[in-house]
Amino acid sequence: MNFRIAVLPGDGIGPEVTTEAQKAMVAIAERFGHSFEFTEGLAGGAAIDAQGTPMRDETLELCQKSDAILFGAVGGPKWDNPKVDSRPEQALFRLRKTLDLFANLRPVRAYPMLAEKSPLRPEVLLGSDIIVVRELAGGLYFGQPKKRWETEEGRRAVDTMDYADWEISRIVRVACELARKRSKRVTSVDKFNALISSRLWRQVATEIGEEYADVEVSHMLADTFAMQLVTNPSTFDVIVTGNMFGDIFTDEAAVLAGSMGLLPSASLSGLPTGRTLGMYEPIHGSAPTIAGKGIANPLAAILSAAMLMRYSLDLEEEAKTIEDAVMAVLVDGYRTEDILTAGGKKVGTVQMGDLVVEKLRT
Ligand code: IPM
Ligand code: MG
Repeated sequence: MNFRIAVLPGDGIGPEVTTEAQKAMVAIAERFGHSFEFTEGLAGGAAIDAQGTPMRDETLELCQKSDAILFGAVGGPKWDNPKVDSRPEQALFRLRKTLDLFANLRPVRAYPMLAEKSPLRPEVLLGSDIIVVRELAGGLYFGQPKKRWETEEGRRAVDTMDYADWEISRIVRVACELARKRSKRVTSVDKFNALISSRLWRQVATEIGEEYADVEVSHMLADTFAMQLVTNPSTFDVIVTGNMFGDIFTDEAAVLAGSMGLLPSASLSGLPTGRTLGMYEPIHGSAPTIAGKGIANPLAAILSAAMLMRYSLDLEEEAKTIEDAVMAVLVDGYRTEDILTAGGKKVGTVQMGDLVVEKLRT
C-alpha cells in the first residue's frame, strides 16, 4: 500500500535522527511491498527562522492530509529569549491541539544489556516493561484561565487544571484498549486527595474500567507513584494519567531504559486500534549540545517509526520487524555514545541507522 507521511525534522538532532528513521521505513517498504511518500515541513525554531512562526497553517494542513507524522524535535538556546513570545515548542502545542492528539503513548522497558546505564539496580529493573498513557490535549497545559498579570502587590500568574469527563473517559479507554493486548492491568494516577479535577478523574476512570470487564483498573496517588516507579517498576504495566503528571513521570520512567536515546512516543487522535492519525517522535528532544556531531542515538526515532506503523498504518508485523531489528543490533553490541557500555562497539548516528537497515534487509 501507499502511505503519505509528513516529516517534520525540527531542530537540533531532530533532522539527524528522522533521516535514520526514514531509512528504516524505506527498508520496510522494500521488504513488505509498501511505498511511503514523505513530504517534509518546517517546525519549531527552524520554522521561526525561515517562516517567522513555529508552525505555518500550510504545515498543519500537510499533517492533517497525511496518514501519519514523523516528528524530530524542536527547541534550542537560540530561541530561548524569554522576552520573545514565539517559541519552538508552540509547534508541538499547535499540532497536539489542532489535530486533537490527546493520547500520548510512551513505552519504556528495561533493556537487560543496558542495565548498567541505569542508576537503578539490575534486580529492581528486571522485567520492567511499561507504557505510560499521558493525556496530551487538556489539563494544566491548556486549561483557562491561563495568564499573567500585574496586581498592586506584584506580578501574578495562573494555569488551570481543567478536565471534562469526556476527556478523561477517552484517554482511559485508550489505556484499557492497550491493556487488553498486554497484562490487562491499568494503573490510573491522580492526586485525588488534593485536587477536585483528580476526584473527577478517578470517578470516570472507575466507570470506564467497569466497561472493560476484562481489564482491572486500579488507582494510585501521584506522589506514591513517583516513588513506586523507581522502587518497584516491574509491578506496573499500563499507566494512565493527566498531561502534567504524565510529562513528569515519562522523564522519570526514562531512567529504566538507561537512556532517553531509546525512547519512542506516539501521540494519537483516537483509540490505538485500526488506523489512527498520529504523530511519532523520540522523547529525547533536540539535544542542541550534540547536534551536528553525528553522535546522536537514532534508535528512539527508529522505534517511533515502528509505533507509526503499528498505530497509524495498522502494520503490526512491520512494526515488530523494526523493533526486533533494533533489539538485534543492541544484542550485537553496537552502541551510540549515550548507551556505550564496557566492551560495546561504538558507532555514530548514521552507522547505527545502517546497522538497523541491514537487519531489516535480512
Ligand atoms: C514532552 C516535552 C514537552 C511537554 C515540552 C517540550 C513542552 O517535555 O513532550 O514531554 O511538556 O509536553
Ligand atoms: Mg516532557
